[in-house]
Amino acid sequence: MDVLEAIRTRRHIKFFKPEPIDEALWMSWLEEAKLAPNHKMTEPWQVLVVGPETRAQLKHGQNFGDAPLVLAILAKRGQTQVERDENLMAVSCFIQNFSLLAQSHGAGIRWTSIGWTDAARETLGVGEDYEVANIIGVGYPREVPEAKPREAIANRIKRLP
Ligand SMILES: Cc1cc2nc3c(=O)[nH]c(=O)nc-3n(C[C@H](O)[C@H](O)[C@H](O)COP(=O)(O)O)c2cc1C
Repeated sequence: MDVLEAIRTRRHIKFFKPEPIDEALWMSWLEEAKLAPNHKMTEPWQVLVVGPETRAQLKHGQNFGDAPLVLAILAKRGQTQVERDENLMAVSCFIQNFSLLAQSHGAGIRWTSIGWTDAARETLGVGEDYEVANIIGVGYPREVPEAKPREAIANRIKRLP
């Protein structure tokens, strides 16, 4: 699958099949995801592989769509607001790389923003030096949603003199 096809067919996956993804495969996606751009080579990501006990304590309403794998993706908190924003942007690129690699193997991810709560941070044991950018469910989709309509990009482009 080429990049364009992966971008076009990627979806936010709501529910997953129980079938696990081979660990060597998802580890290879993380390995490639780290090639994401990051300012000053801070490589600000950290990945927590969420085990069953921790997962239960997170109490996600839909249990991460029954995903066979749950990863908490952390971003190093910068010293300044700019560093903080840059680190989150780099981690977003990391997640998108991972997502497109999953897509190219017939898998997908479910994004959940619950990591921003104090309760989730505590459950994950994340200190002040990191933020939980997202907690993703990863697996093979039970069903692939239709593409959601997007506004024409021309409407979001402004040309400056
Ligand atoms: C930073 C970020 C956080 C998100 N958090 C959630 C979330 O908490 N719950 C959820 O259902 N979807 C979440 N999403 C997924 C979006 O809802 C989804 O990407 C959007 O509906 C478009 O659908 P698509 O990805 O299938 O094109 C998040 C996406 C991003 C980029």
